[in-house]
Amino acid sequence: MEKQPRGSSTNNGDTRAEKNSILAQKSQDAELGGGQKRIDAQHNKGKLTARERLELLLDKGSFQEIGKFVEHRSHEFGLEKQRFLGDGVVTGYGRISRRLVYVFSQDFTVFGGSLSEAHAEKIVRIMELAMKNGAPVIGLNDSGGARIQEGVVSLGGYADIFYRNTLASGLIPQISAVMGPCAGGAVYSPAITDFILMVENTSYMFVTGPNVVKTVTHEEVSSEELGGAMTHSTKSGVTHFRDANELQCIRRIQQLLSYMPQNCEEDPPQLPYSAKESEQRPALNNIVPDNPNQPYDMREVVAGIVDTDSFLEVHQDYAENIIVGFARLGGRSIGIVGNQPASLAGVLDINASKKGARFVRFCDSFNIPLLVLEDVPGFLPGTDQEWNAIITNGAKLLYAFSEATVPRVTVITRKAYGGAYDVMNSKHIGADMNYAWPSAEIAVMGAKGAAEIIFKREIKQAENPEEQLQKKVDEYTETFANPYRAASRGYVDEVIYPEDTRTKLLLAFEMLENKVDKLPKKKHGNIPL
Ligand code: HXC
Repeated sequence: MEKQPRGSSTNNGDTRAEKNSILAQKSQDAELGGGQKRIDAQHNKGKLTARERLELLLDKGSFQEIGKFVEHRSHEFGLEKQRFLGDGVVTGYGRISRRLVYVFSQDFTVFGGSLSEAHAEKIVRIMELAMKNGAPVIGLNDSGGARIQEGVVSLGGYADIFYRNTLASGLIPQISAVMGPCAGGAVYSPAITDFILMVENTSYMFVTGPNVVKTVTHEEVSSEELGGAMTHSTKSGVTHFRDANELQCIRRIQQLLSYMPQNCEEDPPQLPYSAKESEQRPALNNIVPDNPNQPYDMREVVAGIVDTDSFLEVHQDYAENIIVGFARLGGRSIGIVGNQPASLAGVLDINASKKGARFVRFCDSFNIPLLVLEDVPGFLPGTDQEWNAIITNGAKLLYAFSEATVPRVTVITRKAYGGAYDVMNSKHIGADMNYAWPSAEIAVMGAKGAAEIIFKREIKQAENPEEQLQKKVDEYTETFANPYRAASRGYVDEVIYPEDTRTKLLLAFEMLENKVDKLPKKKHGNIPL
């Protein structure tokens, strides 16, 4: 058919120019969301709009919008007179570093970003596309929750999203940035996703807000204190990242994605890397102090091993006695779990176990090999820990490692005591390669505690009990406080000089590159939740 010039007549009498201008007008209306006044109000709160956020997040010009003209179908409480194209959420797909991602960005300028039936359908649509096409979903949340005027229809919409979040879990990475309110049941969508990011001072998450809290428990608490970024990054561990502003938060999402594959069938992206003549890192020789009770920062060990500046720490300010995060080794993505002797001597407690387990699960879901750096004096004793189920929670970490089929390598830098030795990716629970530094002490417990128990009577009866205790401590130290007993059993594959650690790990992960490991066939395991 011959192409008609712009402005010529079409079959129904309108000119093409008129039709085009209707489209242009609708498009402009949709892009204005709830109108300039509300956009200004959004900016005055220090927040960007839904579209401005997407523009910063996605590669320039890559965003393709889906459902731009969707409207709500509600007639209650005068809603039929208030319609906004797009209905409070901008959805579609685009690229980050040229890789496909699906996105939704809630528009607070339209009914406070509240979730209607139509709004929910738009989110569900892009989640389903993401699942079918194997690419991550990123949600930018800024919403007053369920669209109050819609009642149960809106609640149903939330449940539709939660259900897809669950189906998508482990299939494609899901990332939630909270950039405004996220309250009530709405919090459960981010909670099911893999990573939550929050912005300081402008975002909050809680199941019930300060007013309800005051009525029920008589506590007076501000939104920020109850569920702000600081609270969730330090106290509850709900959020994995806290950023000072929205731009930093968006950059963080981009960085985070760079370590992940697009879906569970793919390997993570590998950056080009040319091996250096020497990969030795002599600085590693001087990190572990001579005194076994002196702390040191496991982050220094991480920095000494991985590619320069490649460590992205997750949950940095929560359960600081364990560190987890992504890094690159020879350009390959790895996940690192390390005890942190600089905090609570690196002991495993409830929060550390949960933090570690969640991270191990993510890495295993998405084919990211695991490196464990171990210096652990055991599990934290006490009524608080026991009554809050250190048993069940510690078991989460044990279970997560045991079920992980990705390449798994452990380096014991110093202490590997008791049950924690087993839990921290020991050979017995399926680790592929286990290394120890000469400073390693692999035993049931520290020498002093051990001597006091097994030589109790001898020490008590000795002429000089102090001297006798020291003698027995030295004896136990010589026998067990080293890596050679474990090495003689093959529980440790090699005792290595610290400075050689990077070289050994480069080779080990390369050797394990094509690892295939399958769990027994079953519906699914029953992780101790
Ligand atoms: C419909 C809403 C809304 C909602 C806000 N708005 N929340 N409209 N449903 N849930 C509208 C307001 O009427 C207002 O419209 C605009 O959004 C901006 O709201 P403001 O209150 O002016 O903004 P602000 O002062 O910044 O306060 C934001 C807020 C507050 C803290 C989010 O609006 C608020 O408390 N909203 C209600 C939150 C709530 O209780 N949601 C239900 C939670 S229960 P105009 O036209 O004036 O711009 C829930 C259950 C989910 O979500 C269950 C899932 C299983």
